[in-house]
Amino acid sequence: MNDKQTNYNLNDADYLLRECVNAIKGSIDQIYYGLLNYLSEEEQKKFLSYLKNQSDSLQDVLYKTIVEKANKINDLNLQLVKTNKELNMLKNSLEEKVVKRTIEIKKVQHVTIFGLARLAESRDEDTGEHLNRIRKYSFLIAKKLSHSKLFKGYIDKKYISNIYHSSPLHDIGKVGISDKILLKPGKLTVEEFEIMKNHTIIGGKTLEDAEKQLKYKTKSFLSMGKNIAYCHHEKWDGSGYPFGLKGTEIPLSARIVALADVYDALTSKRIYKDAYSHDVAKEIIVQARGKHFDPAVVDAFLSLEDKFKERLIEQ
Ligand SMILES: [Fe+2]
Ligand SMILES: [Fe+2]
Repeated sequence: MNDKQTNYNLNDADYLLRECVNAIKGSIDQIYYGLLNYLSEEEQKKFLSYLKNQSDSLQDVLYKTIVEKANKINDLNLQLVKTNKELNMLKNSLEEKVVKRTIEIKKVQHVTIFGLARLAESRDEDTGEHLNRIRKYSFLIAKKLSHSKLFKGYIDKKYISNIYHSSPLHDIGKVGISDKILLKPGKLTVEEFEIMKNHTIIGGKTLEDAEKQLKYKTKSFLSMGKNIAYCHHEKWDGSGYPFGLKGTEIPLSARIVALADVYDALTSKRIYKDAYSHDVAKEIIVQARGKHFDPAVVDAFLSLEDKFKERLIEQ
């Protein structure tokens, strides 16, 4: 209820009550004039003067009672308005606190998850910068794709934020791979590679189990992290692992991270190779368009070429 509404109702009530008083007074007057016919002129004057005083005082009493009641209602309404204002202020301050606290909790959550991903990566990656670049590349591609007809409406702000925070989890399953295989300097044997492939299942399963504990599963970054961990080695033509998924059977987030991960691996120095230049890496990715990578993701990467180069310079 607002002040205006309160005043309007009170004025309305006041007007109606005044009308009632006038109507009562009018009825009383009718009775007086009916009686007057039976009285002498002198008696009429006396009686009229007497009754006039009576009706005036009756009107006063009625009016005073009404005004008193109206004032009481007005006081109550003012008190109500004041209480409502205080309640609103309290509600706003509580809402502000909830928003602040939610932002803090989210930050702690993201920092913790990134820390865990770095910990998992620390055995075969010195600086953790790989994860930092992966999330920036994935973010850039997702943002670019959000403007294309193909993904408009599917990739929203939440999706872009989720891929930024969940892409570093892609190799979290490496914690389950022994040093002997993970840190082997030379080429892996067929058997060793089969074991290595398991990092996708270990990571995906770990995040899936974590996700099961959440009440709201849809659109959570853990859910996206699970898809990425399971599917970042799947290939567009179906020749990837662990499931051999093909085309759009592979979750889009995993198709994006697949390119980001390979680009970063190509342009980074490894024990077994030097870092390739952007142009060489780009050529390899273009050759794999429609084979290893989703053509739409490759096209987004090509249109963002300058930004990817910038990231390389920042390293
Ligand atoms: Fe991987
Ligand atoms: Fe990686």
